[in-house]
Amino acid sequence: MTTSHPTHLKIQDAYGKIATSLGGGCCGPSSGCCGGDRAEEVAQGVGYSVAELATLPDGANLGLSCGNPTALAALKPGEAVLDLGSGAGLDVFLAAQRVGPTGEVHGVDMTREMLAKARHNAAEFRRRTGLDNVTFHQGQIEAIPLPEATIDVVLSNCVLNLSPDQAQVWKEIARVLRPGGRVSISDMVLLRPLPEALKESVVALVGCIAGAALVEELRAMMAAAGLVDIDLSPKGEAIEAMLPSNDPMTAYLLSQLPPGTRPSDFITSMIISARKPA
Ligand SMILES: C[S@@+](CC[C@H](N)C(=O)[O-])C[C@H]1O[C@@H](n2cnc3c(N)ncnc32)[C@H](O)[C@@H]1O
Repeated sequence: MTTSHPTHLKIQDAYGKIATSLGGGCCGPSSGCCGGDRAEEVAQGVGYSVAELATLPDGANLGLSCGNPTALAALKPGEAVLDLGSGAGLDVFLAAQRVGPTGEVHGVDMTREMLAKARHNAAEFRRRTGLDNVTFHQGQIEAIPLPEATIDVVLSNCVLNLSPDQAQVWKEIARVLRPGGRVSISDMVLLRPLPEALKESVVALVGCIAGAALVEELRAMMAAAGLVDIDLSPKGEAIEAMLPSNDPMTAYLLSQLPPGTRPSDFITSMIISARKPA
């Protein structure tokens, strides 16, 4: 295990509480609470279908996502897939059904309580589907605990913005991908720099806002890692539609923006795709 950065400790504390339903301030830009009906609503709002969600073990969807990267990854039977910051296993379980019994899906997450939840859900997933193709690893996405050139597709959903060293995460993604392997990631990305106070806020960090990279920084990190065919596309709906009302993170975000500006002037959810050269 690599040394933890102070940001890792803040994120682990907040997401550990979310995993055990103790509440962690907030759970991401798209959710004001964890689990229950709101999680279902959030997931549908960011692009998951009712039919997809119905295939998941209870509690795999915590309402922490900002897109549906699995749907856009065009996964094929037999592929090896990795989900960075896998949480309670939402995208791992969806990907596992797409790659089938000849494929494999790995989730990596550093938060002990999330891992415990994901592994509990995996037992239920095996019972329900008969598939035994998912593995959850404890680790940091800055030092992915998998060998190089073993993965066909890297997924991630609303996680890279939480990393204190995103350039290193992109190097790790390129390392574990097989030649020709691809990336399908949803994340929050900045269109212009945030006001200083927001950049320093723990609430905004945990809520997937403060750590987001600027679009051009993100493109540069991906290119520096050796990835090609980089495509960064805004997901569609404005962030205002994803922000929960009556939520401390939303209230704080709105209070810190310059007069006359809106959250969507600064930040958007993007679909991030790329390929490692063959
Ligand atoms: C916003 S949640 C998203 C969870 C999941 N992808 C989903 O859509 O339900 C972020 C997850 O990433 C994990 N995480 C954040 N930073 C990480 C890092 N640097 N290394 C490993 N896991 C990390 C957290 O523990 C948490 O489970």
